[in-house]
Amino acid sequence: MEKNKLNDWWNINGNYKILHKINPLRINFIIQNYEKPIKKKNILDIGCGGGLISELLAKKKGLVLGIDENIDNIKQAKKHARENSINVNYKNLSLNSFYKKNNKKFDLILCLEVLEHVDDVEKALNKISNLMKPDATLIISTINRNLKSLVFAKIFGEYILNWIPVGTHVFEKFLKPKEIVEKLKLKGIKTKKIKGMKFNPISNKWTISDNTNINYFLVAKK
Ligand SMILES: C[S@@+](CC[C@H](N)C(=O)[O-])C[C@H]1O[C@@H](n2cnc3c(N)ncnc32)[C@H](O)[C@@H]1O
Repeated sequence: MEKNKLNDWWNINGNYKILHKINPLRINFIIQNYEKPIKKKNILDIGCGGGLISELLAKKKGLVLGIDENIDNIKQAKKHARENSINVNYKNLSLNSFYKKNNKKFDLILCLEVLEHVDDVEKALNKISNLMKPDATLIISTINRNLKSLVFAKIFGEYILNWIPVGTHVFEKFLKPKEIVEKLKLKGIKTKKIKGMKFNPISNKWTISDNTNINYFLVAKK
């Protein structure tokens, strides 16, 4: 993702308005699919951005480490958590540099709206699977690669509805669910669930759906 110039992670009408819009749905999905209490669990939020999800899990007493390669994002995440007295550990590290330094494993790993920005997805997934404890859960959300996702996620999202800044996404980096499933399988990680996120323009609401054509979640366990 490009450097965030506007400094507006927590502005609900700013660059990340779509993430704010889907945040209630995302946190519910994570909590339901983790299936265990969040309290005291070691959680890694990879590419945490401004901490929209990290903070909610910390409020549930999870021990959250948010990492992001973008220093501006981490500064905003730290500032917001401090101002709201929320206890999250944030580090300005890419997944690669974190992986080199770290020797800890996690109960729950989140990689939300990040993989479609990563250059080598296979390497990233290998690292992520090595960071999982034996019974850990991994929750990914990303964008499928097909004509519908090109039209809706890229063309409508960026150029017509202005939901996200133009140039946020590169279509070729979108990922078909089976591409992730296969890479995880090679590392012994089993995919348990794949669900779509659906937008209803009439109610202006997002819901979980069986249609994974555009945005989707993938839940996997070691
Ligand atoms: C679209 S934002 C998603 C933020 C957050 N996960 C959320 O969903 O609210 C993608 C974030 O991933 C970060 N990112 C991309 N590649 C990364 C990498 N290899 N390591 C760490 N952070 C990365 C970007 O800096 C950006 O903050």
